[in-house]
Amino acid sequence: MKQIPTRLLGKPSQLAGPIRAAISALEPQLIADVSKLALGDPKVIPLWFGESDVATPEFIRRAAKEALDRGETFYTHTRGIPPLREALADYLSGLYQRPVALERVSVTTAGMNAIMLAMQLTLEAGDNAVMVTPLWPNAAAAARIMGAEAREVALAREQGRWRLDLDKLFAACDKGTRLIFVNSPSNPTGWMMTREEQRAVLDFCRQRNIWLLADEVYARIVYQGRAAPSFLDLAEPEDPLLVANSFSKAWAMTGWRVGWLIAPAALGDLLGELVQHNVSGVPTFLQPAAVTALKEGEPFVREMVERCRRGRDIVADHLATMPRVRFTPPDAAFYAFFEVDGVADSLALAKRIVTEAGVGLAPGAAFGKGGEGGFLRLCFAQAPELLARAMERLKRVIG
Ligand SMILES: Cc1ncc(COP(=O)(O)O)c(C=O)c1O
Repeated sequence: MKQIPTRLLGKPSQLAGPIRAAISALEPQLIADVSKLALGDPKVIPLWFGESDVATPEFIRRAAKEALDRGETFYTHTRGIPPLREALADYLSGLYQRPVALERVSVTTAGMNAIMLAMQLTLEAGDNAVMVTPLWPNAAAAARIMGAEAREVALAREQGRWRLDLDKLFAACDKGTRLIFVNSPSNPTGWMMTREEQRAVLDFCRQRNIWLLADEVYARIVYQGRAAPSFLDLAEPEDPLLVANSFSKAWAMTGWRVGWLIAPAALGDLLGELVQHNVSGVPTFLQPAAVTALKEGEPFVREMVERCRRGRDIVADHLATMPRVRFTPPDAAFYAFFEVDGVADSLALAKRIVTEAGVGLAPGAAFGKGGEGGFLRLCFAQAPELLARAMERLKRVIG
C-alpha cells in the first residue's frame, strides 16, 4: 500500500486505494510554507498573497443580495447567465480593438478555473505546456495535474527590466507542445508583453497549431492607459487562443470566484460540458452582481489602480534606500518583485523576515525559473500606512 506523503495529510497514513501519480507528486506551495509560520497573527503585516485589503464595493455586494432576495438560488446556465455573457462581450468589445462575440464567452469559477478548463480542453498526459516564468505557481500545477510537463522558459533580465527572448520561447516548443502559457501583465514580475511580441507568439501558435493560453487577470492593473495590450486586440475569432480573466483583482472580488474564459465559438458546447462536470456553473446569485461590476465599476477600477500606484511608489521609495536591494518599479500588476544581493535561498530569507520583522512576503523560488536566488514578492495593493510600516520593518532585516 502506498504511503501518503506526510505533507499532504499532516501525519503518516495508509491509502485506501491508488491515486494518480500526477496528484501525489503535487508540490506544496512555497508561499504557504512561509505563511503557515504566522497566518492570522495580528502582529504580522501580510503582503504575501495576491489581493488587496479593500472589500468588494457596496454597489456590487448589494446587487448579489438583491439577487438572493429575488430567489435566484436555482441551477443556471453552465456557461453563465446570458446577461453576464452579453455584458462581458460588450465590455471586452469596448476595451479592445476587435469585437468579442457572446458565443466566445464562458463564465468560470474565477481565473483559476478558467485556466484549469483550458488545460483540460487541450492537454493529454505526456504532452507539454511551455510557460513563461517567473510565474504564479498554480498555472504550472494545473498542467501537471493533467499529466503534462510544465516546461519553463525564463524571462531575461536586462538593466532591471524583464524581457522575453522569443527565440528561446519558440525553441522550447517541440512535437509534444500543445500549449504556450503567457501571463501578461505578470504575477510576480509585472512584466508586460509588447504588441509586437504578442503578434509573433500568436503567429507562431497559428503556424504550429499550438494553443495559446493567455492569462490576463491583471489586464486592468496598469499605470498608463486603460488596459494592457491583449491578444484580443489582435486575434481572429477562430484563432487557437484562449484568454483567462477574472473579477478578482480589478473589482476586488477574490472571494467570489467569478471569472471568464474567451475561446473560439466552436468550442462553446464542449466548454459547457466541461463546466458541467467540474462545478456545473458559477453560483446563480453572484452573476447579476458581476454584471453590475462591469456596468458600474469603472470608477472603482480607476480608484483601485490609483491605490496600487500609491502603494507601488511607497514601496519603491523605501526599496531605493536599501543598498542590497535591486528593484525597478513595474508598469503593471500589484507586486514588487525585488532581488536582495548576496542571497541564495529566498525561502529561508522570507521565513527570516516573517519571524524577525513581522512582514509576510512570498519567496522568489515559488515562481519557478528566473525567480530563484534572492527574489522576494511583495503585494502593494494595500493601505499606504500599512505599507510604510512594513517597509520600515523590512529595513531591519535587509536594509
Ligand atoms: C497570474 C494569475 N492568474 C490567475 C489568478 C487566479 O485568480 P482568481 O482565481 O482569483 O481569479 C491569479 C491569482 O492570484 C494570478 O495571479
